[in-house]
Amino acid sequence: MAQSFGLIGLAVMGENLALNVERNGFPIAVYNRTSATTEKFMAERAQGKNVKPTFTLEEFVQSLERPRKIMIMVKAGAPVDAVMNQLKPLIEEGDMIIDGGNSLYTDTERRVKDMESLGFRFVGMGVSGGEEGALNGPSLMPGGTEAAYKEIEPIVTKIAAQVDDGPCVTYIGPGGSGHYVKMVHNGIEYGDMQLIAEAYDLLKNAAGLNHEQLHEVFSEWNTTDELNSFLIEITANIFTKMDDETGLPLVDVILDAAGQKGTGRWTVESALDLGVSIPTIIAAVNARIISSIKEERVAASKVLTGPSGKYDGDLKEFVNMVRDALYCSKICSYAQGMALIGKASKELFESKVDLGECARIWKGGCIIRAGFLGKIKHAFDENPDLPNLLLAPEFKQTILDRQDSWRQVLMTAAKLGIPVPAFSASLDYFDSYRRDRLPQNLTQAQRDYFGAHTYERTDKPRGEFAHAEWF
Ligand code: 6PG
Repeated sequence: MAQSFGLIGLAVMGENLALNVERNGFPIAVYNRTSATTEKFMAERAQGKNVKPTFTLEEFVQSLERPRKIMIMVKAGAPVDAVMNQLKPLIEEGDMIIDGGNSLYTDTERRVKDMESLGFRFVGMGVSGGEEGALNGPSLMPGGTEAAYKEIEPIVTKIAAQVDDGPCVTYIGPGGSGHYVKMVHNGIEYGDMQLIAEAYDLLKNAAGLNHEQLHEVFSEWNTTDELNSFLIEITANIFTKMDDETGLPLVDVILDAAGQKGTGRWTVESALDLGVSIPTIIAAVNARIISSIKEERVAASKVLTGPSGKYDGDLKEFVNMVRDALYCSKICSYAQGMALIGKASKELFESKVDLGECARIWKGGCIIRAGFLGKIKHAFDENPDLPNLLLAPEFKQTILDRQDSWRQVLMTAAKLGIPVPAFSASLDYFDSYRRDRLPQNLTQAQRDYFGAHTYERTDKPRGEFAHAEWF
């Protein structure tokens, strides 16, 4: 009997997704370029399961029921095209390829067009949740034609994480929109991680908390409505892990040089292209970049002095202020990510992407899963045309109530010389967004002065441009 689903690429994510699909009642065929990987998978984790191992792509394609649904889980970039080119002569009209990797959305746009022109279907699907999510329920962000999505809907709604308001999957929109939304998810992930890192830096180096106290604070934060989330939970756990070799907290032994695979940078590039302001996410990408020049920083630390010392006020109060600063900054970061998806939806994806649905499908399975996504979903359900999350009743009052703490924390950080790039980028975003008049009137004057670039006037309609004789 033919298998109902096929998967190519048995690395960590592929293996776990294959087992998830099979566990949910869909017989699956698998293929991996290196046969030994397939054999090992069959001998171990897939033993006794309805998984059909195949050792050539011909055998793989032949083992699938039609129209075929083939998921590829290989490294983003050229390997995806390579697999697709190998599949093209073997598959038939109506068959579908689903790319579940972190592909660049413009590549996905190109692949959708190419495959459809050949009579095939193509779905670019963001998959979030790491190894555990892939096995037990990821968050899935599929984009392509709606008809193609409908065909995989029975499978993806079963394998996705399940939360109170449904499975963590929805049809995102046309073309590369699924991978676009996954890319912005990762940009937000970078923002969250950087904000948490800054809170940690302040608690450790300004407040002097040790790893046990850090564990307690983050565990406590994880019980709150605002901050309850996967990333806060794992942060709390990280502080309990001791290094076998040194007996020190492992986090203290880990080198402070962050890696990145590109999705955060892509988010920034796209935001700049579309003209959407995402300073918190930009700060997060920059923070990883500057962290990575470790040796240069070590050398600089010997000659560039600055303030040091500890916070000398009430520690409990400070911890709560950092919590408030973290939450306000996080709201700003999500406001930026959502605004970016909103603009991309209008400009690139026929206004098809539903922001409330994006928030809903991130409630479970993915790396940024968090209690407060329910509030974001509610805000967009109430007002799908909400220009910015900061204006939603759910968030507006919270920020207004807590902004004093947020400002205090930034002042403390500046005084002690602790960099808080994402906290401050978030506050700058808030202060810029809420101000009716910014100093860019001067920028316009300068542009007109040196280059006759013209300017609009406060007393004339927008779009009417004037020029002055400055000399
Ligand atoms: C997810 C993650 C996943 C991966 C990131 C890490 O949603 O499951 O985002 O896709 O962990 O790509 O990215 P960096 O290596 O760039 O931090």
